[in-house]
Amino acid sequence: MPIPSPQSLIPKRNLILRQFFDIIPFIMSMNIHVQTRSSRPSTGKHRRTDLSVISPKPWLPLRIFYRLRQFVRGITAHVSADEMLVVAQVLPKAALTRFCHMPLDAQRHSLNVLYMLQREDLSDPDLAAAALLHDVGKSAAGQIGVQLSPWLKGPLVLLDALLPQWIAGLAQNDPAQGWRYLLHVHLAHPSIGAQWAAEADCSELTCWLIEHHQDTLSGSPQTYNEELLTLLQWADSRN
Ligand SMILES: [Fe+2]
Ligand SMILES: [Fe+2]
Repeated sequence: MPIPSPQSLIPKRNLILRQFFDIIPFIMSMNIHVQTRSSRPSTGKHRRTDLSVISPKPWLPLRIFYRLRQFVRGITAHVSADEMLVVAQVLPKAALTRFCHMPLDAQRHSLNVLYMLQREDLSDPDLAAAALLHDVGKSAAGQIGVQLSPWLKGPLVLLDALLPQWIAGLAQNDPAQGWRYLLHVHLAHPSIGAQWAAEADCSELTCWLIEHHQDTLSGSPQTYNEELLTLLQWADSRN
């Protein structure tokens, strides 16, 4: 069965709302040109990805808009059966199970990250797997019967941005602590996800990308891994 193109898989539900939230950032970012082309040679050691121009961090209104769009996409999320075939092509079998246990809005977000990278011709398989699983660790909240839904994520991201030390102080790595465990999952989801990905037969590089996807890189990327991380963070921040 042929693999459908990302464009043919755009969900039809709530089309007007989606198109509105898709077109505004495009207009606002018309002056920002992203030019990224994978040029990975077959020899692993010196492989490089040409990051000739990665757009700078978007200005605040655009970042707010991306967050709003992520929220709308989250509450109207839909993943088609055909898209699950795409996921099955990218992930090892065990990791596919992990993906299936992610909430629908997280699956939608992860697919959107993957499609954005694919639109830029970035076909690194480790990066593609990381795109699909970078937020899988958030599913750990399911241990206390809660999902980090779009309604919870917004306030958490805001609190984390405004009061990071307060959040870190309250977080508890103990499911019995209820909402404090939620804070822990929010903060620790990169390391939780990396551990799950390793257990699910993902590559070392995929696990490394997941573990570091919330890190702030100082300066421009120096290694191939850091280049992929920069690309993952770029696509993540815009979806
Ligand atoms: Fe994340
Ligand atoms: Fe994400």
